[in-house]
Amino acid sequence: MKNIVVIGAGTMGNGIAHVFAMNGYMVKLVDISADALEKAKATITKNLDRMVAKEKISEDDKTSTLEKLSTSTDLAAAVEGADLVVEAATENVDLKLKIFKDLSDKTAAGTILATNTSSISITKIAAVTKEPENVIGMHFMNPVPVMKLVEVIRGYATSDETTKTVMELSKNLGKIPTEVNDYPGFVANRILMPMINEAIITLHEGVAGVSEIDTVMKLGMAHPMGPLQLADFIGLDVCLSIMNVLYSGLGNPKYAPCPLLVNMVMAGKLGRKSGEGFYSYSHGTKELVVAAGFINNA
Ligand code: CAA
Repeated sequence: MKNIVVIGAGTMGNGIAHVFAMNGYMVKLVDISADALEKAKATITKNLDRMVAKEKISEDDKTSTLEKLSTSTDLAAAVEGADLVVEAATENVDLKLKIFKDLSDKTAAGTILATNTSSISITKIAAVTKEPENVIGMHFMNPVPVMKLVEVIRGYATSDETTKTVMELSKNLGKIPTEVNDYPGFVANRILMPMINEAIITLHEGVAGVSEIDTVMKLGMAHPMGPLQLADFIGLDVCLSIMNVLYSGLGNPKYAPCPLLVNMVMAGKLGRKSGEGFYSYSHGTKELVVAAGFINNA
């Protein structure tokens, strides 16, 4: 394993590219938007600068990481000679199926095709490829350079060999890979998202306010962020789409997304990335400011 292609230059894609390049792999980051690639490189540079400032890596490490990283808008050219492709495009099933069908046609036999999907079935994705045994889930957590976990998801057809290779590779990235099977939400989001959804229901029913709910979970359960802050961090649209996968895939009403979550997404209040969710992010400060609509709502 030497040549890695990462598809998608968003938050997860740039974090994944950062971690592979920092650990000595040659990385090509691919996106349809040249602008997104520019932004991703700037973000990676900023995150490497932060690591240098914190003395986690040296200035030379930063330089060699950036040297190992290139970008491209041409998928077919980028995957030539790839040993592993990690797809981290938008969480949309039709888009992922299209990308994997394309990858299956354009990559050499034996190339491992991994997806960073947070909830779409690996088995379904693998089924559109010629070598479903080489398709696997590599679910990184945000922020990728910081979080230790890689949830490694075996689809119905994923081979032992592919799983072993990806487990080893994840260890080489300084991560702790954990193997799970392919059922809706896998393990991470099967457990995390109902907790977040329940926090939103608790808010919606007026049991407590935004700060109170997050304080209970932060100080009472030692979570680094409360569930509402975490929902904003992940993106409320992503949370809603994962709840819908759990709801339809497991067929149990306990997974129904809270109507408040549905309304907020329809209103474009998506959390940090849109400037407002349960908190407001337009103040240019690290201090958490509850969004105007949620003040005094307990
Ligand atoms: N790159 C490199 N380093 C970074 C970074 C980045 N993008 N972001 C943060 N860091 C580092 C900081 O340098 C800092 O390092 P030190 O501890 O050595 O000082 C450390 O991470 C903590 O950062 P901050 O001090 O800026 O902020 P913080 O203490 O508030 O921590 C956090 C921020 C790491 C995000 C923390 O709040 C946290 O762990 N939150 C929960 C994150 C989480 O649950 N992620 C999973 C989301 S779910 C998901 O990703 C999957 C899904 O399918 C939905």
